[in-house]
Amino acid sequence: DGRARVLADGTEVPLLGLGVWQVPDGPECVDAVRWALDAGYRHIDTAQVYGNEASVGKALKESGVDREDIYLTTKFLPRSKDPVHEAEESLRRLGVDHVDLYLVHWPAGGPEWAWPGMERAAELGYARSIGVSNFNTDDLAAVSAIAERQPVVDQVHFNPHAFRRALLEDCGRRGIALEAYSPLGTGSVLKDATVAEIAADLGRTSAQVLLRWCIQRGIPVIPKSVHRERIEQNGQIFDFELPADAMARLDGLDETGGTGKALESNWW
Ligand code: A2P
Repeated sequence: DGRARVLADGTEVPLLGLGVWQVPDGPECVDAVRWALDAGYRHIDTAQVYGNEASVGKALKESGVDREDIYLTTKFLPRSKDPVHEAEESLRRLGVDHVDLYLVHWPAGGPEWAWPGMERAAELGYARSIGVSNFNTDDLAAVSAIAERQPVVDQVHFNPHAFRRALLEDCGRRGIALEAYSPLGTGSVLKDATVAEIAADLGRTSAQVLLRWCIQRGIPVIPKSVHRERIEQNGQIFDFELPADAMARLDGLDETGGTGKALESNWW
């Protein structure tokens, strides 16, 4: 129905999720997740390094929404050695018996070493799907070469200013779904005049336009907000479409030169 995407392993990921990067553990995180679930989100994206898995778990439990109806992602912190052990710890904090998606958070220490442990975590039933995050085309090639079970997702920084076409195409060829984090450019792309103009023409908000730009090409988005009205606003993206000319204008805002450049690589 245009709200979910089928991954290469046959599972389905809802196109809209709430991201909780930089949301401190505690009531702020619990509230954000609760508000998202109340607003109809069925996909929550956290990570070990965010330090807020316990709050995510608390909100899931308190929401009363069935666990099976929620798509839950967490990420292996590659500073640790063992994805299986870390998955057990994440599940304990989250209060669930599996996550839907478990990602290698970034290619620290090389792109491949953690992958056999990720495969093992999937075999043990700790994760329905496994994938990677912040991997560029070379990283994907390296992990693909050694994988018995291929990654089904690469979650990366992606928005019209970071329209990483080469990476998107490479993911397409490999049957990997690119997921967009920072779909609002951590807020910075909301200020783009072209985005604002398109939003005004359509009677929508800049945030809704940016999220629509992704989901209209089947790219799952995980916008972050701790404000209820914004969480709700970001959820209202299935009742309009961007016309082709608006999509093309947004495509033209790319600042990476279509290279697929890993904008994150200076973060570690
Ligand atoms: P806040 O959490 O205070 O609401 P991204 O998802 O690209 O990382 O962007 C997240 C940033 O954008 C956060 O600073 C968040 O602020 C802000 N934000 C999220 N949704 C909206 C919105 N609908 N309107 C304005 N700012 C938003």
